[in-house]
Amino acid sequence: MMTIKQIYNLAIELGIKNDLRGSALVKRKLERVNRQYKLLPEAKKAEFDTERLINPFSDTRYFGDPNKKITRILAGIDIDVAELLLAKELAKAKPIDLILAHHPFGPALAGLHEVMELQVELLAKYGVPINIAESLTQIRMSEVARGISPANHNRLTDAAKLLGLSVMCVHTPADNMVANFLDQAIKKEQKNLEMVEDLLEFLKKIPEYKEAIKQKAGPRLFTGKESNYLGKIALTEITGGTSGSKEIYQHIAQAGVGTIVGMHMREEHREEAEKSHLNILIAGHMSSDSIGMNLFLDELAGRGVEVIACSGLIRYSRIKKK
Ligand SMILES: [Fe+2]
Ligand SMILES: [Fe+2]
Repeated sequence: MMTIKQIYNLAIELGIKNDLRGSALVKRKLERVNRQYKLLPEAKKAEFDTERLINPFSDTRYFGDPNKKITRILAGIDIDVAELLLAKELAKAKPIDLILAHHPFGPALAGLHEVMELQVELLAKYGVPINIAESLTQIRMSEVARGISPANHNRLTDAAKLLGLSVMCVHTPADNMVANFLDQAIKKEQKNLEMVEDLLEFLKKIPEYKEAIKQKAGPRLFTGKESNYLGKIALTEITGGTSGSKEIYQHIAQAGVGTIVGMHMREEHREEAEKSHLNILIAGHMSSDSIGMNLFLDELAGRGVEVIACSGLIRYSRIKKK
């Protein structure tokens, strides 16, 4: 059993711990936000989202009583009003205390672009000059912010309130967990990974991807050839909110990267990546998001929370295998 607040705090803690930028950098940035907040005039303080003082992930929030005790949750990749009604229906047999989404909704969706600054520091880690990464990412962040702005953000939270349900979304912390998981797994396997086909075969052994192959959504190559050299592998499109700038690929290639592993990629991005001679290995969207959520859900299950999967979540527990 955990409380909503404990689940939320654990998401933040694990998100920071698994961040590919390194947890020290994330903590320094959080301290900077706190220093800047203190200097704000009162009127600006009143407008400030104070969750930002403790949570570096703008796309991770909860809606409900923080002290509510949680023993059973319904977890999925996308949660909409339909899933809330599904939870109500399922609760007739056994109560459901929390509905947990991966993709953000409500204010967590409206603030999704804020988390994209992760891409700047991550690209810099892979050797892209930080000023280039920063400039291109900032342009894309403002595009994303404007793109999201007209959406009906609060539809889900409004429905949850009417139904008396508690909801939470854990986005970047879960994406950080899958990014770190893949990073570690690839590093461990490094000596056997020479050509693109080696990495493709390696990914296909991961249970969520194995299951996705059966669903015709397995890992696949978007550009490049299976017989190509992998070169340096970069995990720049697993975490970081949403797709970055399509102008970045030439700089990633110049930085010495040969292959990018991503969850999904838009066609206009793919075309740019192809022009830059990169191999693009798209691992799969629901399957990759499932890995991140599974790693987080295992942490909850280990603390006595029962998990029911819905909405595209390929539930696979690594608890027994530890
Ligand atoms: Fe994700
Ligand atoms: Fe996603």
